[in-house]
Amino acid sequence: MKTFEIVTKVTVYHINDLNHIEKKIIFAAKEASEKAYSPYSGFNVGCAVMLETGEFFTGNNQENAAYPSGLCAERVTMMYANANRPDVPVIAMGIAVQQNGVFLSYPTPPCGGCRQVLLETENRFKKPIKIYLFGEEEIYMIDSVKDILPLGFDKEMLLND
Ligand code: THU
Repeated sequence: MKTFEIVTKVTVYHINDLNHIEKKIIFAAKEASEKAYSPYSGFNVGCAVMLETGEFFTGNNQENAAYPSGLCAERVTMMYANANRPDVPVIAMGIAVQQNGVFLSYPTPPCGGCRQVLLETENRFKKPIKIYLFGEEEIYMIDSVKDILPLGFDKEMLLND
């Protein structure tokens, strides 16, 4: 019998610890949360991605009266970026959540379905995507999507031995 452990590194920052570009990513995610369409949950998620070129794309959660037809902010944003810049790697993402006009104190991580979509982009461009999760009290930084999706499913698994 054999076991192994998977360790995830999370770096905890306060907004003042971040450099200019990192602050810009957070600011763009916060701004995008203002335009969320979330009449059913009141949970306003904003997301920003930065490409290798320095270009930004932003998005937010888009809900629907048929609840499962809605989509998370991270997927809206990542697919928007990939749809418009299919040849440019995404290198960073920021996520910020507000409820009733107040940003949450602690970071909100992306759901499992979004992690799978983010992993596809990371693998597609073979570049790690840094993820910044905003909270007023603490900001978490994760170096790569792989860190938050251990034992992730990717295209290699579709190949038969
Ligand atoms: N939501 C996101 O936008 N991202 C996540 O990773 C988790 C949840 C949205 C979906 C729904 O509109 C609301 O937050 C409540 O679940």
